[in-house]
Amino acid sequence: MTGHIFLIGFMGAGKSTVAHLLAEMLELPEIDLDARIVARAGRSIPELFAQEGEDAFRDLETQELAELSDAPSHVVACGGGVVIRSENRAALKRMGVVVYLRVTAGEALARIGDAETRPLLAGGGGALAATALLSARENLYRSVADITVDTVGRDPQAIADQVAAELGSTR
Ligand code: S3P
Repeated sequence: MTGHIFLIGFMGAGKSTVAHLLAEMLELPEIDLDARIVARAGRSIPELFAQEGEDAFRDLETQELAELSDAPSHVVACGGGVVIRSENRAALKRMGVVVYLRVTAGEALARIGDAETRPLLAGGGGALAATALLSARENLYRSVADITVDTVGRDPQAIADQVAAELGSTR
């Protein structure tokens, strides 16, 4: 098998939207890692963070990612923090091609709108929190990326088209 196509990047980078378009174009099934975590936990992400804490959420994230190792090829939209743990970074590299969708903190916040859906940006400190988190993670995203695509000011279909074209020369 050729492995999965993982979409990584900051919150608001468009991972889920682009994953959906890409899956249609490539005729592959898609997986949204956050949706799997929510289904398994029976709770929303804000509830999980509030009731169990971030570590518990990260454990579920690592578990869901690891369980993809025996699955046939999927387009996988990952949560923005999937790269924090080194074991997840190794899993991504091992299991497929990693596509990094780049976005700026400002555009990410504008796209997200209601930051209360993202516990790490909730509570009013959105702009500062996003800038700090993004700069802390930028190197991690880069370190696992096989393909990097800039998303600022671009619509999802144009991004998906570019990813598909670049995958054509990588896979
Ligand atoms: C997170 C990103 C979210 C979600 C959780 C934590 C992060 O996913 O997994 O709120 O740490 O960046 P999206 O990137 O899909 O918003």
